[in-house]
Amino acid sequence: MACTDPAARAAELRALIEHHNHRYFVLDDPELTDAEFDELVAELANLEAEHPGLASGESPTARVGGEASTLFAPVRHASAMMSLDKTTSYEELIAWGARMERLGAGRSAAGRAGGSKGMRFTCELKIDGLALSLLYEHGRLVRAATRGDGEVGEDVTANVVTVAAIPRALFAATKATSTGESLPVVVPSLVEVRGELYMPIASFDELNRRQALLGARQFINPRNAAAGSLRQKDPAVTAGRDLGFWAYQLGAVDGGPGFSRHSETLEWMREAGFPVNPHIRVVEGLDEVDAYCRTWQDGRHSLDYEIDGVVVKLDDLAEQAELGSTSRAPRWAIAYKFPPEEKTTRLVDIMVSIGRTGKATPFAVLKPVVVGGAKVSLATLHNEDQVRAKDVRPGDTVVVRRAGDVIPEVRGPILALRPQGLPRWQFPDRCPACGERLERVEGESDTFCVNESCPAQVVARITHFASRGAMDIEHLGEATVRQFVDAGILRDVADLYYMDYDKVATLEGWAGTSAANLRAAVEASKGRSLANLLVGLSIRHLGATGSQLLARHFGSLDAIAAADADSLSNVEGVGPVIGASVAGFFALDANRRVIERLRAAGIRFEDPDAVVLPQVLAGLSIVVTGTLSHWSREQAEEALKARGAKSPGSVTRRTTLVVAGRDPGAAKIAKAAELGVPVIDEEAFEGILEGGVHRS
Ligand code: IVH
Repeated sequence: MACTDPAARAAELRALIEHHNHRYFVLDDPELTDAEFDELVAELANLEAEHPGLASGESPTARVGGEASTLFAPVRHASAMMSLDKTTSYEELIAWGARMERLGAGRSAAGRAGGSKGMRFTCELKIDGLALSLLYEHGRLVRAATRGDGEVGEDVTANVVTVAAIPRALFAATKATSTGESLPVVVPSLVEVRGELYMPIASFDELNRRQALLGARQFINPRNAAAGSLRQKDPAVTAGRDLGFWAYQLGAVDGGPGFSRHSETLEWMREAGFPVNPHIRVVEGLDEVDAYCRTWQDGRHSLDYEIDGVVVKLDDLAEQAELGSTSRAPRWAIAYKFPPEEKTTRLVDIMVSIGRTGKATPFAVLKPVVVGGAKVSLATLHNEDQVRAKDVRPGDTVVVRRAGDVIPEVRGPILALRPQGLPRWQFPDRCPACGERLERVEGESDTFCVNESCPAQVVARITHFASRGAMDIEHLGEATVRQFVDAGILRDVADLYYMDYDKVATLEGWAGTSAANLRAAVEASKGRSLANLLVGLSIRHLGATGSQLLARHFGSLDAIAAADADSLSNVEGVGPVIGASVAGFFALDANRRVIERLRAAGIRFEDPDAVVLPQVLAGLSIVVTGTLSHWSREQAEEALKARGAKSPGSVTRRTTLVVAGRDPGAAKIAKAAELGVPVIDEEAFEGILEGGVHRS
């Protein structure tokens, strides 16, 4: 419980903030997400604003945050690395603009309306990584430091020089101007370049996969991974990690070019060889700032690195100097923070759900938490290996992430908050639904319930059969299916077409009309396509695309059921895994019995759209090049494939023929000549579609 006495609460908040700062900056093992930490600071700042007597120079709200750790040598920055004030709304942005205006900014906006309307800002993405200060003397990198407490950071030079994106020397060659002149890029005798070290999302995922294989702990997010990669005793470890860098701010500058705008400093950094984010924009007025923030709040997931907001800086450096800073943050910049996509919560339990193929999927039962705009109380943990790699245990405090439309994910535990003696979670060896054995497939990460008639599997299979992507039976969701399975009305998907509707009408929540509606919906499903029927059968590995390809190619369920694994696998786009699985499905008597009952019920087994042509070109490889007069390239390739040929994009030793239209690819024709592959024209092409290829 939080205290109600403001003084006591302020003291409590200060102690908490101190504690979390220590965990973040020194131990590199935070217990809170950034957003949660920010909430504590905001609460303290509010209290201090409401009760001025509580404010003190010693308060964390008056300081930047961290303190230096002892793993690396401490170094004093030439100019302090400040923190940023934060905002989460347009109103606060306006208040910030008004404050700057009161303090005199915006007046020099010659020829434009004064005040925040006429102010020019740079809008930068707020990269979620860790800040570095790079010191260059006479153009050479002499030291790289973390932010630390803002005054004193840690010397991480040995590790930073392994990061390819960070220049060891400034690029001092000439640059061309718009008038064609060549100007030298001026190199100051001393310059501090600040920016964010980050790990791209794909590299973070890959690193975590590797960590899992090695049985090592996974990183909770790309920022922690970047920090962990940098804070290594052995620079070779840092060198092995994929780290990026965006430069965004100059610190101390001695004897360099004169700058009058922040955007000019960014331009100079770009010319001097630093990566400067391409999405930075110079805008006029806070409405444009607001538009930029909205654009990136919606578009943040289009990037391959994480951002947690937008940093807005007054562009005019003279006005920046005039506004100055508080003890912790400049008055001329502000961080617009997006709503957090990560929160911490309690992992109440780990349970296992059984899917339609019997797959046992562990999932987290969470103390409900609102994150990414939705309340989250369940999250998948995918499989046994994932639980092990994340080492999450019931009772842990975990980081939960929900980004955009992506399903919620448990990223990992906060180890510092783990109660002592919390046991590791064990994957159950019995199915929670039917009590039968759970078996892990050799060489795979998935575990399955071996009992085909497991009620959980039956419910999941029938629900899937009735779902939109399959037979699309209205009024038949999971709860209804479960009710019918429990009542003994349904045991498999074929039972759907033999239901006793008088009995249905007697079940709880049902009456004559609703039963009749259901009957009509079930009847309507009999005419669904062959591809939909295939999807509905819950054949392992076979999804919508594979079903469509098989339906098109074979034209009927009987032809598919009669095909062997090889001919199934040979269908373009299908492959051996699906081929073997489909053949295996139809080889089982139990499945054949279900199929026969579906046939007897009048389900459509044919695909009227499938044109099964004589396979006169089976096994041949025919390349099409140039423009044909009666066929588009796609149509010609489709026509070849429909007759059993492959139609790849390049000529190789395996090519049987090349069909050349107008303006054929010169390289393809040359290659065909070199390999002795015959080249035919459109007329001959139409001939082989009819009658195949006759070798002389
Ligand atoms: S400017 C005085 N620009 O955000 C200016 N910071 O809460 C100080 N950050 O420590 C920083 N992207 O780690 C700036 N484009 C950007 C940034 C950025 C990310 C981080 C940086 C800083 C923190 C401030």
